[in-house]
Amino acid sequence: MIEELKTKLSSLEENYTLKIQSAATLKDLQDLQVAALGRKGELTELLKSLKDLSLEDKKTFGPLSNTLKNKLTALFEEKQIALEAAAVNEELAKTNIDLTLPAYTFDKGRRHPLVIAQKRMVDILSKLGFIWAEGPLIEDEAHNFDALNIPKNHPARDVQDTFFVKNAVKTGFVLRTHTSGVQVRAMQKQKPPIRIIAPGRVFRSDSLDATHSPVFNQIEGLYVDKNVSLADLKRDLTVFMKGLFGNKAEVRFRPSFFPFTEPSVEVDVKCVFCEGKDPSCPVCKGTGWKEMLGAGVVHPNVLKNCGINPEEYSGYAFGMGVERLAMFSLNIKDIRTFYENDVRVLEQF
Ligand code: PHE
Repeated sequence: MIEELKTKLSSLEENYTLKIQSAATLKDLQDLQVAALGRKGELTELLKSLKDLSLEDKKTFGPLSNTLKNKLTALFEEKQIALEAAAVNEELAKTNIDLTLPAYTFDKGRRHPLVIAQKRMVDILSKLGFIWAEGPLIEDEAHNFDALNIPKNHPARDVQDTFFVKNAVKTGFVLRTHTSGVQVRAMQKQKPPIRIIAPGRVFRSDSLDATHSPVFNQIEGLYVDKNVSLADLKRDLTVFMKGLFGNKAEVRFRPSFFPFTEPSVEVDVKCVFCEGKDPSCPVCKGTGWKEMLGAGVVHPNVLKNCGINPEEYSGYAFGMGVERLAMFSLNIKDIRTFYENDVRVLEQF
């Protein structure tokens, strides 16, 4: 019996090797493959007799038939690739496409400089443990002003400075003038410790010139916990500026005023272009410093307005202009550069 099976194996081998070689189409090849290796294929059937053999015979017939199976599978694959290539070549021969010509290049596009700058800032702040938070661009006056201790007579509440939104149903809405409203939303929503940043667009009724735009971007930062002080603010913002401008960067804190922080500071960075050495430096105008952002210790009234007990918790907040920091770090002189989207300019980043 084993001899008979061996003969069958070799005639199968001879037969299919020939047939595979002469298969003319992919369809023919596929039919052949089914006939040989399919569920009811010839080799498959032959393998079924394995179970009737003695142990001794199984040991010879088993490996023999497996070798043939592998050999045929390889032949089928090889032939398939050859037939496919032939089909492509035949198609190409009918056209006049010259495959030796170089391919067209096309521009994949790239990140906008503002996006690059914002991402660098957000990446550093994320490493400092700040979580991204968001708020609406059309904000109610309560979040944009009242909760932030901004009095009714504050100039920001004048139509000259702020876009007020009126519709038939609701009044008391503005295009948010800063991202500080997100602070309020965060404190209303969660208990301390809170450590968030809120990047996003803000709007002011300014006309467009080299340093002003009615739409620009800010990143707000807020940290509230037990015993947070101005010292924490100074440490974190110094680390941030060094991360952004390099380890040599120097940071200066000047007293300032914001209704929602007390004390308040203005944060300057030593001019990275002249390092404070060039009295005619066009970037820092010879002052040696560039004002970067406003910050301070969260005013107790703001904590109270948001349902946080100022006896128990304290916090710091900062708000910075993405365009301003981007202009300084990328040496862009005109804020309009960011919005005109001249491809020749964008390509440089
Ligand atoms: N909201 C302020 C502005 O837009 C910046 C700021 C934020 C200042 C947080 C202090 C604390 O000018």
